[in-house]
Amino acid sequence: MGEGKNLVGVDIGASSIKVALLKDARKKFQVVRWGFAPLPPQTIIDGHVMNASVVTETLLKLFHDQKISQHDVAIGVYGQSVIVRKITVPMMTQAELDEQITWEAEQHIPFDIKLMSIDYEVLRKRPAAGQMDLLLVAAKKDEINDYAALVREAKLRPLVVDINAFTIQNMFESQHGLPPDNMIALINAGAAVTTLNIITKGVSSFTREITNAGNFITDEIRKSLGCSYEQAEAYKCGGPTEIVPHEAQQVIVQASATLAGEIQRSLDFYLATSGESEIHRIYLSGGSAYLKPLAEAVEKRARVPIQFFDPTVNLAVDSRHVNEPKFRSMSAQMVVALGLSLRRDGEQRRWSA
Ligand SMILES: Nc1ncnc2c1ncn2[C@@H]1O[C@H](COP(=O)(O)OP(=O)(O)OP(=O)(O)O)[C@@H](O)[C@H]1O
Ligand SMILES: [Mg+2]
Repeated sequence: MGEGKNLVGVDIGASSIKVALLKDARKKFQVVRWGFAPLPPQTIIDGHVMNASVVTETLLKLFHDQKISQHDVAIGVYGQSVIVRKITVPMMTQAELDEQITWEAEQHIPFDIKLMSIDYEVLRKRPAAGQMDLLLVAAKKDEINDYAALVREAKLRPLVVDINAFTIQNMFESQHGLPPDNMIALINAGAAVTTLNIITKGVSSFTREITNAGNFITDEIRKSLGCSYEQAEAYKCGGPTEIVPHEAQQVIVQASATLAGEIQRSLDFYLATSGESEIHRIYLSGGSAYLKPLAEAVEKRARVPIQFFDPTVNLAVDSRHVNEPKFRSMSAQMVVALGLSLRRDGEQRRWSA
């Protein structure tokens, strides 16, 4: 953990923007601010911001309405513009590594290194073998810069850029620790993207983004029932007063099975190529984690016990500024924003924008 105050976590998702600010209160983290604002459909398509002014205005309004005066933020990005590789290099000092890393990256990254921002993390030192394992992360500068510029338009200072999959891992680790022996999978099913991160012996060993998630299920309902997107979304999300037609329920089950099939193919791919045997447990987060048929379909296909990952169970809440029942009811959607807020000011990373 670095020095300084926690940054405001800003998660710009396909369906909504989530923000959160944690404070390190002696034993627990405390949530001191949070906010959620839906984005109109088509604002973000395939991870690209189509309507920058809507994003900027929504951010400005969120910070204003939630009385968030701190403007130092950490932002999350998806992996399409990011390449992650586990690499092995000779043992060297931090200073040597800082000097060498670009050269090392060139050996592993199939793009012009001048166009990339490079970051790394030392995973394991193996002095006996004279080697160390690194997680090398390279992001396209253009895309990161565009994204940071968008956030700056909302008068925010993006000090850290992180990858959603690792942010979720950090949040999980801070709350539960990572199992030292077992292999687990962290899956975040959002609106447009499902993020997968397999963690073996406490280290991320495989990440993938499937560009399919909750929107697909809503769209299938809309097409089958010939209703509006809003109505289909309401059927999917249920709610105490919503009477869900039988046909919609059937479509939800079918579409969930399709999505679970895609997730399963990624898990199978990893198991087949890594020679690893068994995933011990899957932890599901993201808004689509609330969809029971999806969790059931993933569990059935993967034949791995699945558990809802609620990142807020061990968090204290500052009730002066946080409507606790509302905040906790959206816990699965808040994981990225919360994980980003674990990052601190003064923690020097190359991606500091
Ligand atoms: N109670 C619920 N039941 C079923 N689905 C839900 C429920 N609540 C939210 N969702 C779904 O969760 C999705 C939004 O989740 P989330 O906020 O994690 O996505 P996002 O961050 O906006 O998108 P992405 O991560 O894909 O960019 C939507 O598809 C929404 O329909
Ligand atoms: Mg998301």
